[in-house]
Amino acid sequence: MLSGRGSNFQAIHRAILRGEVKAEIVCVVSNLPGAAGLTYAREQGLAVYALSSKGLSRETFDQQVLAILQEHQVELICLAGYMRLLSPGFIQAFPGRTLNIHPSLLPSFPGLDAQKQALENGVKITGCTVHLVDEGLDTGPILAQAPVPVLCEDTVETLSARILTEEHRLYPLALQARISAMAAAKRSMSASSL
Ligand code: GRF
Repeated sequence: MLSGRGSNFQAIHRAILRGEVKAEIVCVVSNLPGAAGLTYAREQGLAVYALSSKGLSRETFDQQVLAILQEHQVELICLAGYMRLLSPGFIQAFPGRTLNIHPSLLPSFPGLDAQKQALENGVKITGCTVHLVDEGLDTGPILAQAPVPVLCEDTVETLSARILTEEHRLYPLALQARISAMAAAKRSMSASSL
């Protein structure tokens, strides 16, 4: 699910094509019909849903998205620059199965402008985090992190670009690890029910 340029989505898609992530993207959903990331999704022949959330309550909009995800029998959701908080109903529909990437070492600098927050706070190391989504803002359990040094001459743009490179590396790795963990849990559940 994305709202913008979709570079993390592309990184995941390419990792799938290379066989590094054992998954299939069954649909791509955006809450902004003009999101640039949808162009790539359409070019790749993926099922694209561009919904407008304008004027809809969080619950009503999320119910529409949930209906699409359920129709496609989605097992796991990757938020990739999805700029909208999810309703409790949505999160409960996919417990432990919604991932997000954030451009800081959480719990530092949650929310918007994480790279600017890092510069303003004078930290020497920042980075990115893949975490499970819960009802808070960037508060769910952390799955993976990658550090990025902050350089004296960094601007928001230069720092964001270096963090983004790490995001593209980290997200597919964390996703595959989650997929493997889910598969192992499924296997042990079916073994114990024998
Ligand atoms: C990334 O920096 C991600 O960490 C944050 O939003 C940005 C999305 O970029 N959640 P992109 O749309 O994946 O290029």
